[in-house]
Amino acid sequence: MAFGTGHHPTTALCLTCIADLHREGAIAPGMQYLDLGTGSGILGIGLAKLGLTGLGLDIDPQAIACADENAGINNVAENFKVAVGGINSLPADKTFQVIVANILSKPLIFMAKDILSHLAPGGCLALSGILVEQAPDVIRAYERLGLPAPVQRNEGEWCGLLWTNVAVDAGKNAESVEA
Ligand SMILES: C[S@@+](CC[C@H](N)C(=O)[O-])C[C@H]1O[C@@H](n2cnc3c(N)ncnc32)[C@H](O)[C@@H]1O
Repeated sequence: MAFGTGHHPTTALCLTCIADLHREGAIAPGMQYLDLGTGSGILGIGLAKLGLTGLGLDIDPQAIACADENAGINNVAENFKVAVGGINSLPADKTFQVIVANILSKPLIFMAKDILSHLAPGGCLALSGILVEQAPDVIRAYERLGLPAPVQRNEGEWCGLLWTNVAVDAGKNAESVEA
C-alpha cells in the first residue's frame, strides 16, 4: 500500500545519493539518520543496511505499518524505528547526521527551516520528489537559509538534490520560507 518499491525515479535518485555518500565515506556505520516521508521504508532500510541507525516518519499511518513490517522482513528493525508524524513531531533539539526526504517540492520548501534545524553540523541532506522545472524554487529556499548550491541529478522529469557537509549555522538564523 505504501509508496517506495524502488522503481520510481525519485526513490532511485535517493538510493543513488545514499550509495554515493557511502562510497565517498560521507556516511558511515553508527551515524544517525532521518527518513522523512518514509513510505515503504525503502530509504531507511537501505541506510540501516549500511550500518546507520535511524528513524522513519510518515504522516500516513498505513505507510508506517508497511515500513515497520518491511524493516522486520529486512532484519533492520533494531536500527530503523518508524513512527507516524511529520518533522514537527521531533523534539526541537534532536539532530541527525543524514536526512533524506522524498516528498514533493512545495512541502520541501515549506519545511526547509524545520528540516535544517534537525540536521547536525557537517551533515548530509538528500531531497527528491522534485520536478526538474521546480528544482530552482527548492534550491532557492535552501540557499536563502544558508546552504550552498547542491549537487543535482536528473532522471527524466524528476530530480534529486544533495548537500554534503552542511555548515554548522545553515538555517539557524534565517526567516521561514513561504511555500
Ligand atoms: C514519494 S513517497 C516516498 C516514499 C519513500 N521514502 C521513497 O523514497 O520511495 C512520499 C511519502 O511522504 C509522505 N509525506 C507526505 N508529506 C509528508 C510530511 N509533511 N511529513 C512526513 N511524511 C510526508 C507520504 O505519505 C508518502 O508516504
